[in-house]
Amino acid sequence: MEIIRDWGLPSLPMEGLCGGAAECGTCHVFVSPDWMARLHPARDDEEAQLDMLPAASAASRLSCQILWDESLDGLEVTLAPVSG
Ligand code: FES
Repeated sequence: MEIIRDWGLPSLPMEGLCGGAAECGTCHVFVSPDWMARLHPARDDEEAQLDMLPAASAASRLSCQILWDESLDGLEVTLAPVSG
């Protein structure tokens, strides 16, 4: 979430309103199928927040819960609609 926000994509703002506490869903992204299995599983609090997002799918993650390390270099995500 911080990487996306720091890049400042002007037409697709990454709000991150809760600061990464998995409480707002404004950092919702869709992870490309090739990458989904390479991420650590979502915790219960992330799953609970995703369940409240109308646009969520099996490819959904909260980007604030994806912990960056070099193994994720090249990770492909699509920002979800602002409405969730
Ligand atoms: S920043 Fe709020 S859920 Fe990710």
